[in-house]
Amino acid sequence: MTPETETAVRDGQASQQTADQSPEGGQGKLTVTDSRTGATYELPITDGTVRAMDLRQIKTGPEDFGLMAYDPAYMNTASCRSAITYIDGDAGILQHRGYPIEQLCEHSSYLEVAYLVIHGALPTEAQLAQWTHDITIHTFVHENVKDFMQGFRYDANPMGMLVASVGALSTFYPDANRIHDYEVRHTQIIRLLAKMPTLAAFAFRHNMGQPYVYPDNDLGYAGNFLGMMYKMTELKYEPDPRLERALDVLFILHADHEQNASTSAVRAVGSTQVDPYSAVAAGVAALYGPLHGGANEAALRMLRRIETVENIPAFLEGVKQGNERLMGFGHRVYKNYDPRARIIRKHLDAVFEVRGKSPLLEVASELEKRALDDDYFTSRKLYPNVDFYSGLIYEALGLPVAMFPVMFAIGRTSGWIAQWLEMVEDPEQKIARPRQIYTGDRDVDYVPIEQRS
Ligand code: CMC
Repeated sequence: MTPETETAVRDGQASQQTADQSPEGGQGKLTVTDSRTGATYELPITDGTVRAMDLRQIKTGPEDFGLMAYDPAYMNTASCRSAITYIDGDAGILQHRGYPIEQLCEHSSYLEVAYLVIHGALPTEAQLAQWTHDITIHTFVHENVKDFMQGFRYDANPMGMLVASVGALSTFYPDANRIHDYEVRHTQIIRLLAKMPTLAAFAFRHNMGQPYVYPDNDLGYAGNFLGMMYKMTELKYEPDPRLERALDVLFILHADHEQNASTSAVRAVGSTQVDPYSAVAAGVAALYGPLHGGANEAALRMLRRIETVENIPAFLEGVKQGNERLMGFGHRVYKNYDPRARIIRKHLDAVFEVRGKSPLLEVASELEKRALDDDYFTSRKLYPNVDFYSGLIYEALGLPVAMFPVMFAIGRTSGWIAQWLEMVEDPEQKIARPRQIYTGDRDVDYVPIEQRS
């Protein structure tokens, strides 16, 4: 069929529903004329988007597959509908289930925020007590997990150990692949949130050459994690409440950040209907990369290299000449101050009160001030992001840089789970399977090996 001047209007049920629910972004129609055929099409606009599948009807003839959208790195493609996290990058706004991140950090605990992002509403007192109890009693891992973690090389990167150990949990809970059973799903969610800090702390102790420390279920989520990392010969580890709170806030700040690389990895792998441990392992693997979970490490290394305030002008000059980037600055989505950076900055003082002030704080503060006074950075809308100050807190907590992305992974587990759940329950979602533009040869005859040059 040649469409010629045919007008094709897709008016399916899903489009109608989403149009009614649209808070913003606008409805309407996009009129497209294909210069190859002269045919005109009207594509429905809902929530400020057109459906890529609506392009498929645009063909040059019956043999034509139909038009596709080409979008490497998904720069302009919405892959799902999500009610978990809202970001306004221009205004520097981050909200979970509608609650501003500033209020959550002020009033909530990480477990309460995890409940919020996963269940969609803040818990009642009874719900929070039950949730906290359930997570607390699942913090132990099977002894065999400990044994196989001990098999890693003495200097194994803790993030690599985390990828492997969280994925391995699926072998301990084989019923986890019953992802359509609500009760089974709920149990895995509790286990994931509960055991992630235990696996992370075991990885840390392994890296430090120290014996693993079992969870202490008398302690809170962040306090127990601190205990599993730092407990030595004392009978009872008592976390400093200021450090515990700062760590809890860091976990809240990393809870979710909509469709970033690791979350997209969790959704893509989870779309195959694999168990959630395997899907979350994919998220940890994505976070392992220096462009994602590793930027805080790079920011800290940069501050160490600059060393003193006197060296800042020369460093900034090098950045402006394109020799390197100011790490912890700039963001694909935020074109304003990353709200998470502001909150971390506030908690630095409490941590330094306990651990002593880092000389790098002065360098970081001055660097930020000068960059924000400089047209190079302001004209490109480059502001501090979450990674600019988080490394200073982790360093003050005595963590090696290899542990920084591990800390990120613990906090992000709640977001990965929430996004995975949303995907499993979304009737529009199918196995993730992008298309390609094939650029290789075709119909080539096989060449016997002796005839190849
Ligand atoms: N320092 C100096 N110049 C920069 C920086 C920077 N940190 N970031 C961007 N620019 C410049 C860049 O050179 C370009 O300039 P021009 O227009 O003259 O070519 C312009 O700003 C736009 O840069 P871009 O690379 O097109 O921006 P992007 O949106 O693709 O990159 C980014 C975002 C985060 C990768 C980038 O800003 C960057 O590399 N920042 C440093 C690394 C960092 O801190 N990453 C942590 C991100 S937050 C963690 C998370 O949420 O996962």
